[in-house]
Amino acid sequence: MADSDSPRTDTPAVEVRALRESDLVAATAVMRRAFGTFLGAPDPDRFMADRNYVRSRWRADPTSALAAVVDGKVVGSNLVTGWGSVGFFGPLTVTPELWNRGVASRLLEPTLELFTARHATHLGLYTFAHSPKHIALYQKFGFWPRFLTAIMSRPVEEHDAEAPDLYSSVAPDDQTNVLRQCRELTSALHDGLDLEREIRAVATQQLGDTVLVWDGARLGAFGVCHLGADTEAGTGGCYVKFGAARPGPGVRDRFDRLLGACIGLASARGLARVDAGISLARDEAYRAMRRADFRTQIHGVCMHRPNEPGYHRAGVYAIDDWR
Ligand SMILES: CC(C)(COP(=O)(O)OP(=O)(O)OC[C@H]1O[C@@H](n2cnc3c(N)ncnc32)[C@H](O)[C@@H]1OP(=O)(O)O)[C@@H](O)C(=O)NCCC(=O)NCCS
Repeated sequence: MADSDSPRTDTPAVEVRALRESDLVAATAVMRRAFGTFLGAPDPDRFMADRNYVRSRWRADPTSALAAVVDGKVVGSNLVTGWGSVGFFGPLTVTPELWNRGVASRLLEPTLELFTARHATHLGLYTFAHSPKHIALYQKFGFWPRFLTAIMSRPVEEHDAEAPDLYSSVAPDDQTNVLRQCRELTSALHDGLDLEREIRAVATQQLGDTVLVWDGARLGAFGVCHLGADTEAGTGGCYVKFGAARPGPGVRDRFDRLLGACIGLASARGLARVDAGISLARDEAYRAMRRADFRTQIHGVCMHRPNEPGYHRAGVYAIDDWR
């Protein structure tokens, strides 16, 4: 590793600027090749070809994305997601020909400024727990590895069909009330955690839907789901990008109903599986997922800045993985 006091001599002349709409095709191609190469895919350029991360996150907030450009070509990018007081970034990718030459580090400096502009105070990312390089890179920027995050999956059977209540069916006049209840629920898990932007992005871009679990007129749980190809779910999948049950007495039952609602949505849409990630710090919720027949596909690790649990802690019944 380079001596931190001496400037690097092998870093190419990189310009870091806002990612533009005209960059999205190139940035997506870099993302596929970077992950495909790192994970040893037989055809890296086709890796995750049925998934959409760069375009949908850029559309959700075009001011939240950065490009690294060398000689006029996009060679890397990073996207920031703001969930109120919580912010995370990714996918961060650099074209493999330029790995280990400081390009990602150049992207990460202004990434932190984007969080500051959004007033996010608890920051994080998901990365490969087995990669010393990844952990070291993010540690340079003040992120610290905490619990493993399990990326879990459950096959969907035909008899799982029980269509849940959905945000897309809420009358326009009632949407403000639903979003307020979602915010109240998440703020009870972590002060200022707010999924409104995510719920709206999924609705506006028709990436999927948000399931709503009610206790009478009171929201008991909700789950923001991507559905199928050209979303973060991919072909045949329902991906629960975020889900949470209101804390307090009965939370375990509300969480079980949330899982059932996500499975019901997948079944109603003819999808084959539900994918959902969860921090193992939320041990009761993780156990509930095991009981509901979810099985872990891969482990990663979430890194936090500052090195505090946030809502990744026991007693919180929430699903997310910050990928
Ligand atoms: C991860 C990725 C974005 C890093 O990009 P990069 O431009 O190669 O990263 P940088 O060169 O800026 O930084 C890498 C750092 O890790 C250090 N490093 C590499 N291997 C290391 C190891 N085994 N132990 C400790 N540090 C290591 C390098 O020395 C460098 O630090 P330095 O600048 O202080 O010397 C890139 O490899 C990539 O696109 N990978 C595939 C996709 C991916 O995994 N994305 C991230 C998902 S969380």
